[in-house]
Amino acid sequence: MTDDSRFRFAHDLPPLDAEPAVREAARALVEAVRQATGRRTLPAARYTAALETLGRVRGQPLALPLLASGDGSGARVRLADGRPVLDLVSGIGPYVFGHGDPDLLETAVVAAASDVVFQGHVLPGPEYARLAESLARHAGPRLTTVWLSLSGSMANENAWKTILQKRAPADEVLAFEHAFHGRTLAMAALTDRPEYREGLPVRETVHRVPFHDPTDPHSTQKSVDSVERALAARPGRIAAMCFELVQGEGGFNDAPPAFFRALMERCRRAGVAVWVDEIQTFARTGELFAFRTLGLEDLVDVVTVGKILQGSAMLVSDDYRPRPKLVAGTWAGASVGMAVGARILERLEQGGYLGPEGRVAHLAGAIDRAFEALAARCPGAIGGRSGLGAMQAFVAWDGDPAHTNELIACCLEEGVLFQTAGSRPMKVRLLPPLDLTEEELDSAFAALERAIRRVASRYGLPPHD
Ligand SMILES: Cc1ncc(COP(=O)(O)O)c(C=O)c1O
Repeated sequence: MTDDSRFRFAHDLPPLDAEPAVREAARALVEAVRQATGRRTLPAARYTAALETLGRVRGQPLALPLLASGDGSGARVRLADGRPVLDLVSGIGPYVFGHGDPDLLETAVVAAASDVVFQGHVLPGPEYARLAESLARHAGPRLTTVWLSLSGSMANENAWKTILQKRAPADEVLAFEHAFHGRTLAMAALTDRPEYREGLPVRETVHRVPFHDPTDPHSTQKSVDSVERALAARPGRIAAMCFELVQGEGGFNDAPPAFFRALMERCRRAGVAVWVDEIQTFARTGELFAFRTLGLEDLVDVVTVGKILQGSAMLVSDDYRPRPKLVAGTWAGASVGMAVGARILERLEQGGYLGPEGRVAHLAGAIDRAFEALAARCPGAIGGRSGLGAMQAFVAWDGDPAHTNELIACCLEEGVLFQTAGSRPMKVRLLPPLDLTEEELDSAFAALERAIRRVASRYGLPPHD
């Protein structure tokens, strides 16, 4: 991180919640709300009816039949019908300190009580300035421009437009097999899931590059060759290559730094923008940015972040600064999201989470040990492991989707929430809160073991007792 005198806002105008009287009032409100939510429970039949109604209103059921009560602490969350659940996926990533974190809630309450609920790019408030400044400070000297937005997909749209403007008339893109970059029209084209764009008029401007295959010693060369072929076939037409440094929805696939470096260097030689989508990896791999964890900071032109930020942003180098009017919009984010996002960055930096000896690295080590012990107790049930830091996944048996989905359902009955990632093989993913305790990890793995044994005995899979 740089200590740059350009970044003055936080110093000149510290957050309002630093005022003791304001903080005390916020604490009282958060506590009153906590007490009130703790007293409310839906009877089982009403809970089921609420889920059914929600499914009807949405036109499809929720992916998992879960409604939260509003009451939780760390990885523990209480469902609206009173059942406790250990949440090991943090809402697909964003709940970095889990549920009911008093400090974040107090920060949110103060932001919610000041001026406006959402902020746009006209008359932005202190939360906007503080967050943008903090992001720019953490991104390092190359990525000088920050543009805030609401969702990860929107940050990616802004990034793609910015790249297209700079690289016009080039308008084609390299993206990995199994990539996921969001669900807007343009991002649905970059995402390697045809079922997510069924019926959409998508232009075929995406060239697929194989992701790293740890079983193939020639994997890096094969991917570089694939980039070479696309560059040769479409001279002057390829604007960017989009990278997920740990593929999220595609299966928590990770790769060594040398793999990315080889591809990024080739792109830069060809004038192709190196665009890193860190919507899911942000703050989970050891450093805030995975490109820093992997030592790739000299090669990145454009980065997008989301989820843990409680909003989203694109960061670009001087070369890629968009011309005025290209990216805009009414909203940049909710005041609450911006204030909490800035507070999260501050806590990650000051709370010892980052670096090779930081809390993220220690959590990854604890998860490794838990998997080793589980694999020893359940031989044959834990297939390949993948991921980095606090993004971890495993293949249950051989990754058959039916068995994996059933395992997730059994885990939920045992009181732990996991999710799937990828499809061939389908994996079980963990995106735990970064403060996950040893006791929570042990309970989660005990429940996982019970669920594995239940599914195994149903289908005659290992371990055979
Ligand atoms: C790598 C990546 N890019 C983009 C997105 C889209 O973000 P959002 O769902 O906030 O639009 C996601 C969401 O899971 C993601 O993991």
